[in-house]
Amino acid sequence: MQLLDGKFASEKIKQEIAAQAAEFLQQSGRKPHLIAILVGNDGGSETYVASKMKNCEKVGFRSSLIRYNDEVTEAELLQKIAEINQDPEADGLIVQLPLPKHIDPEKITEAIDYRKDVDGFHPVNLGRMIRNLPCFIPATPYGILLMLQAYQIDTTGKHCVVVGRSNIVGSPMSILMARNANPGNCTVTLTHSKTHNLKELVLQGDIIVAAIGKKNFVTADMVKPGAIIIDVGINRENSATTKSGYKLYGDVDFEQVAPKSSWITPVPGGVGLMTIVGLLKNTLASAKKEIYS
Ligand code: GUN
Repeated sequence: MQLLDGKFASEKIKQEIAAQAAEFLQQSGRKPHLIAILVGNDGGSETYVASKMKNCEKVGFRSSLIRYNDEVTEAELLQKIAEINQDPEADGLIVQLPLPKHIDPEKITEAIDYRKDVDGFHPVNLGRMIRNLPCFIPATPYGILLMLQAYQIDTTGKHCVVVGRSNIVGSPMSILMARNANPGNCTVTLTHSKTHNLKELVLQGDIIVAAIGKKNFVTADMVKPGAIIIDVGINRENSATTKSGYKLYGDVDFEQVAPKSSWITPVPGGVGLMTIVGLLKNTLASAKKEIYS
């Protein structure tokens, strides 16, 4: 078993991003700029957004956090998004999900100018991704591709089984792994909560992407010896023994599964760190107008 080390891979790529951000600053007189909108006080969202902002500063980007409480109206959010869409110094705009129930996430997603949609959630980016055209790829799937690249893992012809069909991870991941690209060129099976014979299907995976949001869901009896394991789960549980007051668990039972695998991502220290890199790369590409002019 070898570790797909998110710390190692992300730090290396962040150094490259920092060098390019410095070059951008020199040429344009400004820093790449990411704006995040955070609604409410969800513990997970707070942590993720704080980490996104911190990492922006680390690589020499400008970051702005706009906060609203749970009572903000959909109209107020749409108004703010429209304002940022017009701002030539806003390269990327993300609205952290989930949103309170009275706000329609689809409306919000579609209101963001697709040229600033560094989360890659807008239907224009999704459609372009399916057609293998230049686009913003959602940060977590993008981070997984970068991780596979960093460790020079050849995915061609392999059977990739994705567990979970979320808009943010499972669904785009299944599309990306099937594309005629590298990483990609896989035969893909997309499984989810209604799948019959899930265990049998996962057992066929040369690559298993676990993104179902359930602690230790993928167990050793579901894994073919030598499989490559990508664990996207970030399941928080309260803990009296950690400084933060919680502990993170993946969707994969790491202790049991790791000895059977050829490569495996740890949680924490795996995919989560790469997600940030995906977001930073999209923001830089937006600033440099590499995807849309
Ligand atoms: N919530 C969980 N993951 C994400 C993400 O990648 N982007 C946004 N905006 N919200 C999320």
